[in-house]
Amino acid sequence: MNETNDKPLLHIEKMEVVYHNVLTAVQGISIEVRENQIVALLGTNGAGKTTTLRAVSGFLGIDDAKVTEGLIRFRGDEIQNRPPHLITQKGIVLVPEQDKVFDNLTVEENLQVSASVRKDRTSRENSYDFIFNYFAVLASVRNRLGGYLSGGERQMLSISTALLCNPLLLLVDELSLGLAPIIVEELMNLLKTIRTEQGFTVLLVEQNALGALGIADYGYVMENGRIVFDGDPNRLRSHQDIQEFYLGQGERETRKSYREVKQYRRTRRWYG
Ligand SMILES: Nc1ncnc2c1ncn2[C@@H]1O[C@H](COP(=O)(O)OP(=O)(O)O)[C@@H](O)[C@H]1O
Ligand SMILES: [Mg+2]
Repeated sequence: MNETNDKPLLHIEKMEVVYHNVLTAVQGISIEVRENQIVALLGTNGAGKTTTLRAVSGFLGIDDAKVTEGLIRFRGDEIQNRPPHLITQKGIVLVPEQDKVFDNLTVEENLQVSASVRKDRTSRENSYDFIFNYFAVLASVRNRLGGYLSGGERQMLSISTALLCNPLLLLVDELSLGLAPIIVEELMNLLKTIRTEQGFTVLLVEQNALGALGIADYGYVMENGRIVFDGDPNRLRSHQDIQEFYLGQGERETRKSYREVKQYRRTRRWYG
């Protein structure tokens, strides 16, 4: 596992999440995120990544779901099944997969909405300078409506509004979704720079393993609601199945179908 001596900032312990009292989407996963790390949670569509972020950010209730087993600890405090506003107050901020920006507000108005919810935090007050410093392109479209932004600009605005909430832990759901590879790379690198300069921690959910592992300090791979593999980025990148199914580097002739790999996984577990 993700080993160092200090206690994790976020510790998900054997968490199970159930939708509508019947559908178990996450089955006993454990994840550790240490201060100032970028941890990637990888997996294909339907693996349970968004559900995990909803559990951490407190937004499960909206979808009629609950943490039914296990714990989520943030700085030692249990936060599972707590309401989102209390979790946000602790410094956990989500950049969601969808509905990230207000389409009918300008870039600047979107930023103002976020800035206005920061009551108790004094640093960076009334200033978007540090945002425009990182995302110069946003400055150039500051009067444009959210609905007219490009995919990359939308993502930048979404990250920016989250940053204005002064996160201790930033949860990012599919930064790469729908973006060209070059934009993804640029955004990932920028996220890492901002993390380092502003000093916060990131849990990054991604289907794009290559992009995420490029900046992550540690990674977990999720399948069907379980963590099937974890390790440092080099270890994950060198794993054959991950190369084939997440990084697209498998040899064509020998490339197995996704189902075959699942079959293989059933008979030979990556770890218990
Ligand atoms: N609102 C919901 N109601 C019922 N089931 C859901 C809901 N959202 C997600 N699920 C189910 O939970 C599982 C995990 O989904 P999700 O967390 O969105 O995966 P990922 O983000 O990895 O694509 C899927 O089987 C999905 O169908
Ligand atoms: Mg998702």
